[in-house]
Amino acid sequence: MIIAIDGPAASGKGTIAKYVAQVYGLHHLDTGLLYRAVGKAMLDAGHLLDDTARAIEAAIALDPKQFDENALKLQSVTEAASVVAAIPEVRQALMSYQRQFAMKTPGAVLDGRDIGTVIAPGADVKLFVVATPEVRAKRRVLELKARGEEADEKEVLADLLRRDERDSRRTAAPLKAAPDAHLLDTTHLGIDAAFRAAVAIIEAARTGRKRR
Ligand code: CDP
Repeated sequence: MIIAIDGPAASGKGTIAKYVAQVYGLHHLDTGLLYRAVGKAMLDAGHLLDDTARAIEAAIALDPKQFDENALKLQSVTEAASVVAAIPEVRQALMSYQRQFAMKTPGAVLDGRDIGTVIAPGADVKLFVVATPEVRAKRRVLELKARGEEADEKEVLADLLRRDERDSRRTAAPLKAAPDAHLLDTTHLGIDAAFRAAVAIIEAARTGRKRR
């Protein structure tokens, strides 16, 4: 079983993906880490983010086994990730790793921006997780503070909106719901309610499929 979970920044897709993977005993890939790793490699090497050739090299050289998730989740890496993610060849270089991951047995949950549209268009279930920008900013501030980072809600909100705009407008695999994705609005849902809603959608999709 392949489950694709997409959505804008801090919509709750990562937390939901982790939980769903646990419930169904599936592998989980947070695909944002791949783009974050390319962005971080560029920052660490002192390259300009619009140096497309270097970004492509960094994407090709990526080794997900070496990822330090805490370092990749730093707010300073986030903006860089979204800039390099707009480069079509960077996305191309990261594609086969994601597709192979999706094919792992007994199945996988992948979360990102283009899982249901580009990486796994044949996924068994697709969720598109949304929430209002204000709620997302509040959640991200709590998350950053829990990681020991300073976080200003206004700045975080501005960052989310800027990234949503860039991620949605780019021509390469823009952030958008697949036509067959199930919309899950978590604006008014706590974590447990969001988990329950996600599992209910997945169960309904699975039972529907079995009946047909
Ligand atoms: O957690 P948050 O949504 O803030 O970030 P993320 O999922 O780690 O993604 C960071 C950036 O990577 C996004 O703003 C996108 O530009 C990019 N990304 C992407 O283009 N495609 C994906 N499948 C995942 C992330």
